[in-house]
Amino acid sequence: MRIPFTRLVRPRAALLALWLAVAAALAGVAIAAAGDTAWSPVIYPAQRLPLVFSHAAHLGRGTPCDACHPDAATSRSAVDDLLPTEAACRACHPIDRSQPGRAQPDRMVPGAPPVACRTCHPGYTGGDVARVYLPPPPIKFDHAAHRSAPCATCHGDLRAVDLATTQHLPTMATCLACHRDPAPHLRPRAQVFAMDAPRATPAHAAALARAAHVESPRRMTDCSTCHR
Ligand code: HEC
Ligand code: HEC
Ligand code: HEC
Ligand code: HEC
Ligand code: HEC
Ligand code: HEC
Repeated sequence: MRIPFTRLVRPRAALLALWLAVAAALAGVAIAAAGDTAWSPVIYPAQRLPLVFSHAAHLGRGTPCDACHPDAATSRSAVDDLLPTEAACRACHPIDRSQPGRAQPDRMVPGAPPVACRTCHPGYTGGDVARVYLPPPPIKFDHAAHRSAPCATCHGDLRAVDLATTQHLPTMATCLACHRDPAPHLRPRAQVFAMDAPRATPAHAAALARAAHVESPRRMTDCSTCHR
């Protein structure tokens, strides 16, 4: 299944994204994370997301990020696959591989009898299942080093989002806004899944920054810190 984000690969949009990113980096100005030209299709290539899934429906019921992304806090490389397998869904949704075409009941609620495969795998009529694939971004990034940063700082507020896409990955402006002065952006680790964690006091923020071993501002904003 083609996903709409392939439109990001338009050469002119890519060129514009590049110029915006260079201009922002050189001028030190944060560009707003709005419009599909703000994300680089080189750093975040088109993804395949043939899955029916709603972050909103699940977060609205209080399921925390780590129920489905348990390795996000400890991942040491941008190459790691942090997406849930079917096993994470089975914790609440029974799935019976011997009844692929089952259509009833169509309500998808925990404890209910198994639903049709196409409830999650769109258009599935048998045979191979189209797989989800996120190409690893060619960037140096380490979730574990960012354990004191709320998920929402980089991924936005997913409470109104169905499928998360490249549009929910951080722009360079988001990275730099924090790297220039990390302390005010950090939170106690117990609060990183919260969407509206209150700001830490200045003294607490400074302690969090010390604990995170923040390097010099020059090093934190050096191109080679993030780019290969
Ligand atoms: C400082 C920014 C930042 C923070 C904070 C952050 N992430 Fe990420 N996240 C990224 C970047 C950059 C990527 C793309 C590179 C990668 O996959 O590691 C990413 C990718 C992901 C992915 C997709 C990975 C894949 O399989 O390709 C998931 C899932 C994710 N993050 C979940 C989380 C969760 C849950 C939290 C909170 C515990 C979190 N992230 C905190 C920046 C961040
Ligand atoms: C902690 C329990 C839990 C887990 C884990 C879980 N779900 Fe759900 N899911 C629910 C509940 C509860 C609903 C009903 C939501 C509603 O109707 O508001 C639901 C509804 C859905 C629906 C129907 C969505 C809609 O908009 O009505 C789909 C599709 C779905 N889940 C897919 C998944 C997939 C895929 C996974 C695994 C990646 C998963 N779920 C993991 C509890 C869970
Ligand atoms: C509640 C949602 C949900 C339902 C219902 C569901 N799946 Fe999945 N399935 C997933 C998720 C999430 C993945 C992981 C995404 C991926 O690997 O592309 C997955 C992965 C798979 C995979 C590849 C990984 C593996 O385990 O081999 C196959 C094959 C598969 N599903 C078959 C089925 C079949 C057949 C049915 C119907 C009997 C079904 N699924 C019903 C959510 C679901
Ligand atoms: C019930 C399971 C579930 C929960 C809870 C959940 N996610 Fe996800 N997440 C998924 C699935 C399934 C995907 C793959 C489909 C998609 O992209 O939405 C995904 C994808 C992502 C991606 C990859 C986006 C991309 O395409 O590059 C990020 C980032 C992410 N989730 C962050 C979060 C954060 C942050 C939270 C907590 C606020 C969270 N998720 C809670 C199941 C979940
Ligand atoms: C803190 C991490 C970080 C630093 C430091 C950083 N970048 Fe980036 N850069 C990113 C991320 C993440 C992206 C992809 C997201 C986006 O498109 O905004 C990106 C994207 C880019 C792109 C677009 C790439 C393309 O081919 O489409 C260019 C060009 C770029 N950066 C240049 C620079 C330059 C020049 C510097 C040094 C002045 C720099 N960056 C410093 C994180 C960083
Ligand atoms: C909310 C604040 C915040 C944001 C946003 C943020 N960072 Fe960081 N980053 C930090 C802190 C704090 C450190 C120091 C932690 C350490 O080195 O252990 C750091 C360190 C790093 C390092 C070097 C340390 C290491 O061990 O990997 C890299 C590379 C990096 N960040 C990349 C990125 C990229 C790429 C982005 C955007 C995609 C980003 N950061 C966004 C706070 C942030």
